[in-house]
Amino acid sequence: MPLVNVKDMMEKARKGHYAVGAFNINNLEWTKSILQTAEELKAPVILGVSEGANKYMTGYKVVADMVKAMIETLNITVPVALHLDHGTYEGAQKALAAGYSSVMFDGSHYSIEENVEKTKEIVALAKKMHATVEAEVGSIGGEEDGVTGRGEVADPNQCKMIADLGIDMLAAGIGNIHGQYPANWQGLDFETLAEIKKVCGDMPLVLHGGTGIPEHMIKKAISLGVCKINVNTECQLAFASATRAYIEAGKDREKKGFDPRKLLAPGAEAIKQTVREKMEMFGCIGKAE
Ligand code: 13P
Repeated sequence: MPLVNVKDMMEKARKGHYAVGAFNINNLEWTKSILQTAEELKAPVILGVSEGANKYMTGYKVVADMVKAMIETLNITVPVALHLDHGTYEGAQKALAAGYSSVMFDGSHYSIEENVEKTKEIVALAKKMHATVEAEVGSIGGEEDGVTGRGEVADPNQCKMIADLGIDMLAAGIGNIHGQYPANWQGLDFETLAEIKKVCGDMPLVLHGGTGIPEHMIKKAISLGVCKINVNTECQLAFASATRAYIEAGKDREKKGFDPRKLLAPGAEAIKQTVREKMEMFGCIGKAE
């Protein structure tokens, strides 16, 4: 199946009361592990790519072409969207030109007026390419690939202003953080989320910072309109820990254990396991059937 935008996925998730997982990719192993798990579990999936990861993989076109080719050669039949994560105004345009099926324009650090203007322009451009757009209000705390946020909780009225611009999904800061949550984390701000849902109606909401959010909060967030949940750090931690175990056990020194295809295999397996657990929690398994 060719790349799809997220419109249908979000509509089905909203009506079916589950969320689609958006997993960040960093390289070929990441992409393959996520696609294979989605196919095995018959789950729709979104591959998120930060601007930093795009740069690491040498550019938007390389990423888009790799993902498209992999979907074809692995015979992936479930819906897959390729989505720019926390895109800048320029980055979103480049990703669309390279064939991304969805982009996030993160204008949360601009004034609300500028965020509105720039979001409108990206929406107009994306529509011409049948791509979908995620916008952000408030900010996600912590840091991801050089994008930092202070974690401001979104103002529901500003959410409504942005939601009315023809976007397809809205990310709103509700006390969520990129990376691991500190021990004294206060949890998600469900009052604000409920308020946002009230003013934004059926607009699919996006929960960033999916790493480490406990299941009961995930379920409650889904019940309040969250249809897409982003996970990045948890796959990275799982990959690093499995790779460490392989090396600490001295396996890279046994026979041809230094072969990258062997060295990276436990990490790739750990990513699959993490994606599986998250998909179970988000309720999206079997939803591509
Ligand atoms: P985590 O790294 O905390 O899982 O957050 C991912 C994310 O929100 C990507 O935008």
